[in-house]
Amino acid sequence: MKNKVAVIGGGNVGASAALFIAERALANVTLIDIVDGMPQGKSLDMQQAAPLWHKAPTLEGSTDLAAVRGSDVVVMTAGFPRKPGMSRSDLLKANADIIRPAAQAVKKHAPNATVVVVTNPLDVMAHLFWKISAFAKNRVIGMAGILDSARMRAFLAMELGVSGSDVHAMVLGGHGDSMVPLPRFTTVSGIAITELLAKDRIDAISQRTREGGAEIVKLLKTGSAYYAPAMSAVEMVEAILTDQKRLVPCSVLLEGEYGLKNLFIGVPIVLGGQGVEKIIELKLTPDELAALQKSGKDVSDMIAELSVAV
Ligand code: LAC
Repeated sequence: MKNKVAVIGGGNVGASAALFIAERALANVTLIDIVDGMPQGKSLDMQQAAPLWHKAPTLEGSTDLAAVRGSDVVVMTAGFPRKPGMSRSDLLKANADIIRPAAQAVKKHAPNATVVVVTNPLDVMAHLFWKISAFAKNRVIGMAGILDSARMRAFLAMELGVSGSDVHAMVLGGHGDSMVPLPRFTTVSGIAITELLAKDRIDAISQRTREGGAEIVKLLKTGSAYYAPAMSAVEMVEAILTDQKRLVPCSVLLEGEYGLKNLFIGVPIVLGGQGVEKIIELKLTPDELAALQKSGKDVSDMIAELSVAV
């Protein structure tokens, strides 16, 4: 296989992402973690599954960040997960200390990679990774909007008894409590959701979407979600490696779009071989725009706390 993807962080999100990438035969995968034996063991286990998929990616594990060498895409998942009662911003400082060496290693050993950041608090960690790597802004992208939209799609599919693949949802903003589900841009096979559901049900589903991560944390008790986050990151890896030009919400650096500047936040983009190929600026209603800007304020407050403002 000609492409290489390095997944930094061999926990539940990273290992699941590695598995999905290999199972879709998108690339050879290098799984990196500091816990000796863990990334090697998990990747050997996956390598042993590979013959059963009739596909031949190679998987390797390493404890050395230099193993990102030559990657086309790097998926950054390393970090502490949320525990019950913990907000994403509680993770801010601890996870920044994990991002810094990873971004330096990617800058040094994989200077041509496109980076998908999953570590929370997502928008701030993507910003920090971009800043430390000094990569062009189109090549550092935070994964959140696809996950938050997938959650909304799943809830709508459950409510309506239709296939989730026919539901399209658009959730913008930071990956936090102030994210902005946009029912106005949510459809089922082109039919506006407002034609199919009453306002109170749409409001309830929007709220459940906002709390989608917390709902899983509460159930699992010892950690946060991983299958849907990993699959969402892999959608991005596939869009980049195969130049799909998907129109999806992702966390990207804004420089004035939506009235926001110098911060990463979720907006619709075209995602392809060049990473962020275009930022789509939707004409939002005053309420929608205010909600997005409020979410932007939450993100920039965290950036200020970390003193990474550019
Ligand atoms: C979630 C965590 C991964 O939303 O942020 O589940």
